[in-house]
Amino acid sequence: MYSYKIIGGKPLKGDVSISGSKNAVLGVLAAAMMLDGPCTLENVPDISDVHVMVDLCRKIGATIEEVGPYTLRIDPTTINTYQATGPEVSKIRASYYLLGALLARCGKAYLRLPGGCNFGQRPIDYHLRAFKAMGAKGTNARDIDNGIIKLEANPLKGTRVFFDIASVGATINVMLAATKAQGTTTIINAAREPHIVDVANFLNSMGAKIKGAGTDTIRITGVPTLPGNFSYSIIPDQIEAGTYMIAAAVTDGDVTIRNLIPTHMEPLSAKMREMGYQVDEDEDSIRVYKDEGTEIECTNFKTAPYPGFPTDLQPQAVVLLCLASGMSKMHENVWESRFQYVAELQKMGASITCMERIALVNGIDKFKSAYVNATDLRAGAALVCAALNAEGTTFISSASRIDRGYENIVEKLTALGATIERVENSEYVSDDEA
Ligand code: UD1
Repeated sequence: MYSYKIIGGKPLKGDVSISGSKNAVLGVLAAAMMLDGPCTLENVPDISDVHVMVDLCRKIGATIEEVGPYTLRIDPTTINTYQATGPEVSKIRASYYLLGALLARCGKAYLRLPGGCNFGQRPIDYHLRAFKAMGAKGTNARDIDNGIIKLEANPLKGTRVFFDIASVGATINVMLAATKAQGTTTIINAAREPHIVDVANFLNSMGAKIKGAGTDTIRITGVPTLPGNFSYSIIPDQIEAGTYMIAAAVTDGDVTIRNLIPTHMEPLSAKMREMGYQVDEDEDSIRVYKDEGTEIECTNFKTAPYPGFPTDLQPQAVVLLCLASGMSKMHENVWESRFQYVAELQKMGASITCMERIALVNGIDKFKSAYVNATDLRAGAALVCAALNAEGTTFISSASRIDRGYENIVEKLTALGATIERVENSEYVSDDEA
């Protein structure tokens, strides 16, 4: 167990390079389990969620070797079981992709219920209903509480699948299952996040027939084999990039964030410009800074599926709003309970009132240092941003949650001039946490 110790108050300056996308690579790793030959993945981020997923893939028999920096050689032809039922499955949310991948590869899939950040109910009923509509037999959406989901392909046949809400996970999972199903599957009201397009591009480069990824209607024509034998490079992480944009802004810094896709950042860039920040785009970089004397103005955000404002940047954006003049509003439309971190920000002097899915944020001059806890991955990232702004020393416990999704965050922030280090909890735990 370790904490982050951050001495804030310094403007971040310089360049930072964004790593491969966490949510894309988790989907692509599962997709790689369906191939009939090996493949090479590049730009794989070195984060703990990826380590867990690689471990899960190895446990079902896949051969995965690190063949260079951020590069994995994957041979799924050695897979020898359709069962992923160990306790490690519950460490991450994206283990649910093994359902679609194993159904497609083995005709059967047994999976322990996935885990992930706790921000309210995280059902997988859409995934199971869609597999059933495609002909799978087994565990029903209403009785998934028994710990292990058991599905049999029986076989999988293409059909029309409609989601009430554009679910990222269900869209990717159905895409995986449909890739080797008989006939054509049409997903209506599909999610459109950049990582969905990345998984589809990966599969298409390996021989799949997926059209429309990135729109709300995806058509997948099943193919009998996926030859593989190609290299594929993972897209940059939209959420990591957005977190550094916000960290630059709240420290009055001047940072160029490199190796990102500017169009993916548009929902955040537009809002930051509206608030008064300068956000200069280049082909694959964005520079964030503030002109001297500019007053940062309050605004309102609403989270929504892509191309709306990403819920995974909501806590970090609230930190931005805390430092704007006047009253701002954050409306969380995706998750029912994603404001647990507000109590931690309040310890740092934030003036926020939550009413169900809305947070009313009153501007303050500066955060103050405190002992706080990273209640989940993005909550932790928000606390890092607040601590970088605060005068004095902040300790963020449960820092391993932050490392689930941020590669070398200590090293990257240090290179930008921040004072941040990993410290053992036992040395610095505050009285109320002891
Ligand atoms: C993924 C991301 C997560 C992000 C979220 C929304 C990964 C590994 N995780 O999570 O970081 O916050 O997208 O962008 O990529 N829903 C149902 N039934 C289902 C599935 C979803 O009701 O079977 C609802 C959820 O309760 C939620 C909404 O749909 O309100 C969106 O969830 P979804 O897009 O599926 O999120 P995840 O794939 O779990």
